[in-house]
Amino acid sequence: MSNKKNEEVKKHARKRVFCDYVKSFLLKIFLFTRYYVDILIDRVFGYFNDSKRVPIKKCTNPIILESATALARKIRKREYTSEQVVQAFVDRIKEVNPILNALVDSRYEAALEEARKIDEGINNGTISYADFRKKPFLGVPFTTKESSAVKGLSFTLGIVKRKGRKALFDADHIALMKQAGAICLGVTNVPQLNLWQETHNPIYGITSNPYNNTRNVGGSSGGEASLLAAGGTPISLGTDIGGSIRIPAFMCGVFGHKPTSHLISTKGIGFRNGDEETTMVNIGPLTKYSEDLSSILKVLVGDNDAQLKLDKSIDIKNINIFYISNPRDCFVSVFRENVKNIWLRVVNYFREISSTEPEELHLEGTKYSGKLWKYWMSQESGVDFMKDITDRTGKAHPVIDTIKYFTVGNDYTLSTIFNFINKLLPCPKDEWAKEETEKLKNQLIGKLGTNGVLLYPSAPFTASYHHASYLRPWNFNFFVLWNVLKFPVTQVPLGLSDGLPVGIQVVAAPYQDHLCIAVAKELEKAFGGYVPPFETS
Ligand SMILES: *[C@@H]1O[C@H](CO)[C@@H](O)[C@H](O)[C@H]1NC(C)=O
Ligand SMILES: *[C@@H]1O[C@H](CO)[C@@H](O)[C@H](O)[C@H]1NC(C)=O
Ligand SMILES: *[C@@H]1O[C@H](CO)[C@@H](O)[C@H](O)[C@H]1NC(C)=O
Repeated sequence: MSNKKNEEVKKHARKRVFCDYVKSFLLKIFLFTRYYVDILIDRVFGYFNDSKRVPIKKCTNPIILESATALARKIRKREYTSEQVVQAFVDRIKEVNPILNALVDSRYEAALEEARKIDEGINNGTISYADFRKKPFLGVPFTTKESSAVKGLSFTLGIVKRKGRKALFDADHIALMKQAGAICLGVTNVPQLNLWQETHNPIYGITSNPYNNTRNVGGSSGGEASLLAAGGTPISLGTDIGGSIRIPAFMCGVFGHKPTSHLISTKGIGFRNGDEETTMVNIGPLTKYSEDLSSILKVLVGDNDAQLKLDKSIDIKNINIFYISNPRDCFVSVFRENVKNIWLRVVNYFREISSTEPEELHLEGTKYSGKLWKYWMSQESGVDFMKDITDRTGKAHPVIDTIKYFTVGNDYTLSTIFNFINKLLPCPKDEWAKEETEKLKNQLIGKLGTNGVLLYPSAPFTASYHHASYLRPWNFNFFVLWNVLKFPVTQVPLGLSDGLPVGIQVVAAPYQDHLCIAVAKELEKAFGGYVPPFETS
């Protein structure tokens, strides 16, 4: 009897081993094929577009290469006037924007006027040292995405029904930036309703990458990243619900930080009024230099500053380093050689300087990133994609509007059609998604604690040609996990590979933003950080 049972168990085990073998074999074939399909896609797109490259002009004014922190200091010390600084960026925007199509609405004259007032106040002594302390960015210009309300500037979110619409108020975070003394120059392009990994809409067209204008800038803060990298703005503010700060920061080779959740008011981001119970969306800075991350973040979190330890001094040697080299997500393209081993360079660096050995983690849950994000998107409060896309004048019909798009045409972009189709696909089960999220969160908080960071890949390859993302729509999955878990994360540039930016994500447990930023600073020193996409003289 027991013998027979034993036989049965053995047979079963053999069958399972065989099934696993077949599965892994098929997966290997799939990944192998996809690797070459991806290369083919790039060849075809390149054939049509490489010859269309127009490089951006070289930089003749050193002001545009200074950090925001340095500019603020130099204005305070009267080495530069605010007017000089604002004028330098206005001139630069005029030089690069015809190629990039990043900035979509401006207020140059008003900005220069504000700058002259500040200079006068500094000169006649009415602006005191105390004023500078309250206004850390006094006289320094900034830009933000068109989907964040800036009073008097375009506020269409790329929705054709809103064409010509101007914001009637300042979003809360914009008001904070202005209180900090910064001067708004204008707003930049976004994908329709901020929901795509490329920056393109029927009102303002497509935004190009400053490193190669045949390339994608990422989305949704794509106008911001493009303008920042080209030297058109020293302070850039983005929002991030599924990588929208970090995708463009990665593709344009700049820093981008998505902070710990629920510390910054979301009022004035698109349709949001700031009182949603739960949201994955967050606001954060994009910067050319790591030294600007903390000081801008401090302005954005305002009174919640005390919850973060942004001024804590840190010995980089004592931070525990963890890494995940491959999240094993089958929806994402296979790593290309030039980004495959980036984590290895970074890990080796920390192996040399750290007091403890970096540790590789394998978490089962990382492969479900996209599924979990889809679930949590369905739980977002304060927004309703189907209504918002019609400017809340009605409700879109995913099937009918998709058919119309491909036949008679309508005002939507293909990205919106992809979002419609995604809505039609089944949503992961409530219980499963919550459990899996909790599990991942606890595993990671357990490891990272208050003194650890996780190095995580950003993307399988550098910026693709325009529109290629429609053929590999899930390649943003490495970014969305950190929205699902609401962890702070910094996108860190690590120089260029074949002329395009590469980089890595640095993640910490909630409220440990200072650790991400400390590691970002160290990596900038070791690997060069931002490399201008133009000649400097
Ligand atoms: C090639 O570039 C043009 C713009 O110059 C763009 O309209 C077109 O979509 C691009 N094609 C591909 C395949 O990227
Ligand atoms: C950038 O564009 C040029 C065409 O001028 C092309 O030869 C080059 O390969 C492109 N670089 C990358 C990395 O795509
Ligand atoms: C100093 O300049 C500011 C800004 O233009 C102006 O409002 C103020 O009246 C001036 N004060 C004096 C004493 O000139």
